[in-house]
Amino acid sequence: MMNTYSVLAKILVLTFVVTSIPFCSSSNTSKRYQFNVEWKNITRVCSTKAILTVNGEYPGPTIAVNEGDDVEIKVTNGVSINTTIHWHGIKQLRTGWADGPAYVTQCPITPGRSYTYKFTVTGQRGTLWWHAHIAWQRATVYGAIIIYPRMPYPFAAPVEAEIPIIFGEWWNLPVEGIEDEMYKYGSGPNSSDAYTINGLPGSLYPCSVKDTFIQTVEHDKIYMLRIINAALNDELFFAISNHTLTVVEVDASYTKPFDTEAIMITPGQTYTVLLNTNQHKPDSSGLFVMAARPYLTTVFPFDNSTTIGFLKYKGSKAEHMVLPKPSNLVLPRHLPRMEDHAYATKFVSKLRSLGTTRYPCKVPKKIDKRVVITISLNLQDCPANETCKGFNEKRYAASMNNQSFVRPMTSILEWHYKNYSSMQYSHDFPLQPPHVFDYTGVDPLTHNLNPNFGTKLFAVEYGTRLEIVLQDTSFLNLENHPIHIHGHNFFVVGRGFGNFNAEKDTTQYNLVDPPERNTVGVPMGGWAAIRINADNPGVWFMHCHLEEHTSWGLASGFIVKDGVKPSQRLLPPPDDLPPC
Ligand code: C2O
Repeated sequence: MMNTYSVLAKILVLTFVVTSIPFCSSSNTSKRYQFNVEWKNITRVCSTKAILTVNGEYPGPTIAVNEGDDVEIKVTNGVSINTTIHWHGIKQLRTGWADGPAYVTQCPITPGRSYTYKFTVTGQRGTLWWHAHIAWQRATVYGAIIIYPRMPYPFAAPVEAEIPIIFGEWWNLPVEGIEDEMYKYGSGPNSSDAYTINGLPGSLYPCSVKDTFIQTVEHDKIYMLRIINAALNDELFFAISNHTLTVVEVDASYTKPFDTEAIMITPGQTYTVLLNTNQHKPDSSGLFVMAARPYLTTVFPFDNSTTIGFLKYKGSKAEHMVLPKPSNLVLPRHLPRMEDHAYATKFVSKLRSLGTTRYPCKVPKKIDKRVVITISLNLQDCPANETCKGFNEKRYAASMNNQSFVRPMTSILEWHYKNYSSMQYSHDFPLQPPHVFDYTGVDPLTHNLNPNFGTKLFAVEYGTRLEIVLQDTSFLNLENHPIHIHGHNFFVVGRGFGNFNAEKDTTQYNLVDPPERNTVGVPMGGWAAIRINADNPGVWFMHCHLEEHTSWGLASGFIVKDGVKPSQRLLPPPDDLPPC
């Protein structure tokens, strides 16, 4: 007899799978979706609140397309606040208008209005995702993007089925005002109340046994897990009891397959892994725990809880079992401890581009320009007559090369395209740190600099082979920062601890098969060097994918100028582009 809880959980699983079917797909080459942004009452962790959703779904609908497809997504704003949606990791070749970050490539979609995002998916295959890109709306407005390849998978395994694993973060209170609150007082946000797998926190949280993700699988098959970290502020470790995961693709680029017992995934990143369901010893219950908890590199308050789900083997004892009580539950033995920096480092160092003739690794071997960017959390002196709620009654801020990014009140891309004089932004983002010091060695508090505030970007010619060295600093504390770049993939050619040394470190670069990604975790107290072929004209946001850091200004962006050929130019803006 099945218990009520697992029946309920099954229904939730089913709902999730069914809603993954595209709203309407006309042919092989063109896919259309309708996204209505609307409120929906949801209960999780004993509290009910209205959350922003797409089509009332949480997580939102899956966009499933084939490589080469034209995609049109009409987003209608059915709520009383502004919104935008970003297609995270989609390269948006010449279609920057459809990228989505508010005030960077578009003005927001105002209440009652619609905007149709149009783009073509080229040269990418695998798992990506979409999310709201304004204030903290992405806390609940997110979903998967799946790009099916034109060619068979480069691994032999026949895939039985695909299982989405989307991590999220849940707050019992509304998140819509968090960013405003942070601006007002210069404070940090409250930590979340739960992590979720496909919107479900799992039975370790109060009132949540019924909200546990349970995936039924068959013996001796290969399943494809499409893992997305949509959490706002936390890198996560993930493991499944007794099972090994084989990483085959990250950020929609194939990798050299490798086996691992756990993964570390930063916000913004995606991993496609294969799961071999080879655990069917007669004494086994056939029920296996999957779990995710944070990889901790912060000194700020954080959510130290664990989200769990279950794999349930068909035809095993598990089919007739009540879920184990939280007190009896054993987490996967290989789930790393929250402070396991060594595991995180070792895991990330295994990533390599597939690099075959069919899928060559196109890393620039030579570069035209190297930009060095320090990443800092800052303490800003409290302006007179204001209340500041950061450490020592100051304001928190965050910066790149000591520039804290301020979003303008207009779309930078539009101003750039129309060649308006740039009162709203400037091109003078510093290409080197303004002060040279022992970045990772100074005292976190006494050396802290007040950042400069403004909207500074830098510009490069079309086709520039760009290297960006991202350097962590010890300001406030050393931290792992997931830096995401819009409009391009990049190659992570080097990583290290301490301060980047151009002479020594460049000799250790991997210029053969470095991993290709859109989000790189800059190691805590270290640096990461990435190379980009700047071949996509437009304005591209670059920011930390920890939402609290973006809110504090840990962002910048770069402009890729038009090339000479017509095919190297940004397309004209669509007619329905929202005005400011
Ligand atoms: Cu996933 Cu600028 O974002």
